Amino acid sequence: MTAHIIDGKSIAQQVRTEWKIRADALKARGITPGLAVIIVGEDPASRVYVANKVKACAELGLHSEHIVMPADTPEAALLGKIAELNRDPKIHGILVQLPVPKHIASNRVLEAISPDKDVDGFHPENVGALVTGNMRFAPCTPFGAMKLLEKSGVAIEGKHAVVVGRSNIVGKPMALMLLQQNATVTICTSKTVDLAKFTRDADILVVATGRPKMITGDMIKPGAAVIDVGINRLPDGKLCGDVDFDSAKQVAGWITPVPGGVGPMTITMLVANTVQAAERSAK
Ligand code: GUN
Repeated sequence: MTAHIIDGKSIAQQVRTEWKIRADALKARGITPGLAVIIVGEDPASRVYVANKVKACAELGLHSEHIVMPADTPEAALLGKIAELNRDPKIHGILVQLPVPKHIASNRVLEAISPDKDVDGFHPENVGALVTGNMRFAPCTPFGAMKLLEKSGVAIEGKHAVVVGRSNIVGKPMALMLLQQNATVTICTSKTVDLAKFTRDADILVVATGRPKMITGDMIKPGAAVIDVGINRLPDGKLCGDVDFDSAKQVAGWITPVPGGVGPMTITMLVANTVQAAERSAK
C-alpha cells in the first residue's frame, strides 16, 4: 500500500480562500483585520517564519505590522510594546515569535498579550478555554493539523490518536483538540520507553519532537494517518520531518510531506485567527 500524500499547500490555499471571504466582508464594513508580529533578536529561522506570516496577511489584504526588536531589548520594553498594541484599535491579533532571548521570561510575555488579541492561543486564559472545551483561539500549528485531517476525510471519533511530543505549542494543544473530537488520546515523548509499542497502535499519529526521521515505517500501523509536524535541516541542506517519509509512506494510509504538509497550514490558521479576532471585536 502507498499512502495518500496530504497536500498541505493546496489545502492551505483552499482554506485561505474561505477566510478571504470573511476578511472581505469585514472590510466592506470598514474593518480591516490587523496583525502585529513581534520578533526579538536575529534568529535566522524565526525571521523567515515571521516574514512569511506577514506576507500571508498582505496576500489576503489584511493590515500587518512587523516589529523587529534587538536581541538585548529589556523585558520591560517588550511588555511596553505589547501594552501599546493591546490598546491599538487597528490591531486585532498580536504574536510574539518564540523563542525569545533567555533574559526575557516567555510566560510573562504571553500573559501580557490581551486574551482577545492572543491569536497564538498561548495566554493561560485561552489555554484554559481549550482544556475546558470552550476554545477561543486554537494554537495555529495543531489547528492546521486538525484541518488537514478534516479536509482529507480522516475519521477521528473513537479512533486511537497518538501524539509524540508534549510542547505547549504543538503536542499538548493537539492532544486536547483530538480529545475534543472524541478520539482516544495517548501522549508520548521522545523518551517514552518502547515508543513503537504506542505508535504501532495509532490510527492517527502526530509527531512533533524535533528529531529528524525518528519515526520509521515499521513503527506505523498499516493505513494510519500520519501528521509530521517536524521541520529539520539535514547536514546536506535538505529539509526533513520527524517521520522517515520514504519508509512511512509504504505503510500509512495518509501522510503529510515535509516541506509542504503542516507548514503552509500554520500560517493559514494564523490568518484565520486574526480574522476571527476582528470579527469578535466588531460585534
Ligand atoms: N515559534 C514556533 N512556532 C511558533 C508559533 O506557533 N507561535 C509563536 N509565537 N512562536 C512560534
